[in-house]
This record gives sequence, structure tokens and C-alpha cells, in this order.
Amino acid sequence: MKILHLISSPRGAESISTKLGNAIAGKLQAANPGNTIVTHNLATTPFPHLEEVQITSFFTPAEKQTPELAEAIKHSDEAIAELMDADAIVIDAPVYNFQIPSTLKTWIDHICRANKTFSYSENGPQGLVKGKKVYVAISSGGIYSDGPMKAFDFIEPYLRGLLGFLGMTDLTVYRAEGLKVPGIGEHALENAIDSIAV
Ligand SMILES: Cc1cc2nc3c(=O)[nH]c(=O)nc-3n(C[C@H](O)[C@H](O)[C@H](O)COP(=O)(O)O)c2cc1C
Repeated sequence: MKILHLISSPRGAESISTKLGNAIAGKLQAANPGNTIVTHNLATTPFPHLEEVQITSFFTPAEKQTPELAEAIKHSDEAIAELMDADAIVIDAPVYNFQIPSTLKTWIDHICRANKTFSYSENGPQGLVKGKKVYVAISSGGIYSDGPMKAFDFIEPYLRGLLGFLGMTDLTVYRAEGLKVPGIGEHALENAIDSIAV
């Protein structure tokens, strides 16, 4: 099995979501000695924000691509190839201002391509990214899985909706949450790692 681990925290070795993502990927790898991990750090090797040239390239047939458009579409082609090659995807999703980091959003902007990762049929939209297991490692200062801040839990519904739209419906979320809450934060990562069942 090939495991793709996407890091999105800018905090390097201090990152809690990366520690949780590493633990998930590590347990997946340990399940079978043949399993391999490809790590893509989106914070240090980000995809470019979508500009007009990229969007034009997405909607231009291959035979009509100019050299400029062919160059612009390479990032998206690479992101999609890396995704399609993986059997399992571990996505680190730290909460920054109630959302995922922009580097992870930019990755999403590059993997969403009509007729590559989704299509529209008579029966409505169809996801084309099938047979993947997805694990999301959320880290947050507050608590969003339950309680008074649950209405601010935008990340899990967003990722479930977006990745499900692309066909990735087998998604498990692990959370190291309440990191800034005294009495909870001290054990949040340890508890999240202990809860990993892969
Ligand atoms: C700029 C910034 C914004 C943050 N925004 C939130 C937030 O909206 N909600 C929250 O619960 N925690 C927030 N936090 C706390 C982070 O979620 C927490 O530090 C978490 O560990 C970040 O993940 P990381 O360690 O993988 O980078 C924020 C932290 C920073 C530095």
C-alpha cells in the first residue's frame, strides 16, 4: 500500500498536526512491511495560488495548449498523479482562524479538475477518485467536535464534503483538540495518538 502524507502546518517540528499525521502514517506503514510513505510538505513546497493562466489551462484541451498553458497545468497534473498513485492519504489539517491553512486549500484547488477527479453526468456530479482511505489529523487550540464551539467546526464538514465530491468517501478524522485548554491540552496529542485504529 502507498501512503501519501500531506503536511500543511507551517510550524515544522513543533507542529501537533504533523505529529498526529506521522503517528497515523506510521501505524498504517507498520500494518504491513511493504507499505510505503510519500511525504509532501505543502508548507515548505507549496502549490501556487490559482491564477488566470492555470484556470485557462484547466479548460483548454490538451491539443490546444500553448507552451505557457502546458507549463501552468503541470502543478495540477503532478498533484493529481500523486493523489491517484496513493491507496491511503493522511491529511494534516491544523486549525488556523477556523479553517485549514491556505497551502492545503491551494492543494485542493489543484486536485479539483473536471473529467480528471470529478465529472458531471446525467445523474449529477460523480467523483472519480475511488478506492482511497483518507485520514485527517486535526489539531486545534479550542474544542470543536462537541460543546459550545461545535458550530465553528468548519474543517471536518468541508473536507468530508469536498473529498466526498471527488469520490473519497472513506474518511476518518482524528483530533488533537483543546490544545490551549488547561487540563485538556496537556494530554490532547497523546489521547489522539492512542485513539488511532487503522
Ligand atoms: C495564527 C494562528 C491562528 C489560530 N487559529 C485558531 C483557531 O481559529 N481556532 C483554534 O482552535 N486554534 C487556533 N490556533 C491554534 C492552533 O490550532 C494550534 O496551535 C495547533 O496546534 C496548530 O496546529 P499545528 O501545531 O499543526 O501547527 C491558531 C494558531 C495560530 C498560530
